[in-house]
Amino acid sequence: MMFKLSTLLAIASSVIAAEADGSPFKPPSVEDAAVYARTLVKRESLTNVNTISHSGSSEGKPVSFVEYYADCGDGNPVLLAIDMSTSYKNYASGSPATLSIRVGDHPLNEHVNPKYPGSRPNSVAGSPRINLRGSFVNVTTEELPQLEACFLERHRDARWWLPGNPIHSSHFVKFE
Ligand SMILES: *[C@@H]1O[C@H](CO)[C@@H](O)[C@H](O)[C@H]1NC(C)=O
Repeated sequence: MMFKLSTLLAIASSVIAAEADGSPFKPPSVEDAAVYARTLVKRESLTNVNTISHSGSSEGKPVSFVEYYADCGDGNPVLLAIDMSTSYKNYASGSPATLSIRVGDHPLNEHVNPKYPGSRPNSVAGSPRINLRGSFVNVTTEELPQLEACFLERHRDARWWLPGNPIHSSHFVKFE
């Protein structure tokens, strides 16, 4: 994940600091915010995909749906785009997209270490959460086998929806 300084500053200002000394509102340094962000994206595996509706009674309104993702090494979330899903239809119609991830965004049956750097014990609002800006790009044929295996390691039940399945057309994307 190649963070630009401006992005990191935005992250730093949006993370509620949880300093050991108990001061609630001191923002973390840019370096610490980057550590929190990378840890969060690496550990969790569910993200809200936020888009703007392009048709129907919700036209012009923001909508947000949870999707599976996996961090497969470079920090750019890998997602399985189901082409008929609202999020991807909105994106294909020109909507911008952001991803929201917070501590606890993983399947119920998966154990993920809840102790995060920068988190305040027993406080959801005092724990890392992030909003990522970027765009979806198709994964290349070369990287597909490795990314698919990595994705399925986190989301076994997604095997029914892999590209080529007979029900819904789908393809792997990265959110860069
Ligand atoms: C990404 O891949 C899908 C499925 O193969 C294809 O429909 C779409 O046009 C591709 N998008 C781009 C930007 O190449």
